[in-house]
Amino acid sequence: MNRIKMILDCDTGHDDAIALMIASKHPDIDLLGVTVVAGNQTLDKTLPNTLHVVQHLGLDVPVYGGMAKPIVKVQEVAEDVHGKSGLDGPVFEELRIKAQPEHAVNYLIRTLMESDGDITLVPVGPLTNIAMAILLEPRIVNKIRQIVLMGGAVGIGNTTPSAEFNIYVDPEAAHIVFSSGVKITMMPLDLTNTALADESVIERMRNIGNKAGKLFADIMSFTLHSQAVNGLSAGPVHDVTAVTYLVAPDLYETVDAYVQIDLSKGPSYGRTVCDIYGRSGLEKNATIGMKIRLKEFWDLVEDTLRRHI
Ligand code: BDR
Ligand code: CA
Repeated sequence: MNRIKMILDCDTGHDDAIALMIASKHPDIDLLGVTVVAGNQTLDKTLPNTLHVVQHLGLDVPVYGGMAKPIVKVQEVAEDVHGKSGLDGPVFEELRIKAQPEHAVNYLIRTLMESDGDITLVPVGPLTNIAMAILLEPRIVNKIRQIVLMGGAVGIGNTTPSAEFNIYVDPEAAHIVFSSGVKITMMPLDLTNTALADESVIERMRNIGNKAGKLFADIMSFTLHSQAVNGLSAGPVHDVTAVTYLVAPDLYETVDAYVQIDLSKGPSYGRTVCDIYGRSGLEKNATIGMKIRLKEFWDLVEDTLRRHI
């Protein structure tokens, strides 16, 4: 089987770091590059955070810095969740590697335009880089095989009562992506908040005994309290579910629906309005992950972490 060509677009970030660990070593994935965007923290933090993970695990993948600000909205970050650095918890050595000189948006356009239309984009942060690439070179729309993203919520949000963080931070970018015509699959909070790394998951990954297992444990231990969902001592690995969908879609229950981004500046700004019951009559533009089989999911995560140093 041909490996799935993918580009990870991230705002590293605790769960982003784990998503990178899975994307870089799963045998069915060919990770072409990693593009970085501002989100969980400012770009001057999310970019080095990404490079630290790459350096620490000796990954062979180019990293590109992208958009430092949302397209329209005033910038907001998630310091309360991911800490001052955006990846508080693990301690890394001094950074010796650098990002590529090319801007992430130019890299995306160049790589997609030169491709045979076989590249999947996996954005797990605000959609600013992807939207900017579409604005700058609309022909990439026909070159993107599909987008599998973490973002949005069918039900309640985590940043406002209506909106999930990645979409809330740059709703205009999300609108550009969701109305682009590209095949989109989204992993909303309703699903990602069930993929919780509690103490037992953390110990299981630490017990693998390699650098990646320890890094997983160091990263997710920080989120036990900062991201505790429903009062549980456990942190969600949101972004990982978008990567694992590529290689194990059978683990997911999905539904197709028309998804609209609320751009009105009221209390629902940045909400993903998911027309699950088809009330609008509008053409379905997204596949929404509704449930994931967790036992197989954690097995897949463990098996992939074992492939690292
Ligand atoms: C999303 O926001 C970020 O904090 C996480 O990395 C994830 O991508 C969850 O709402
Ligand atoms: Ca993220």
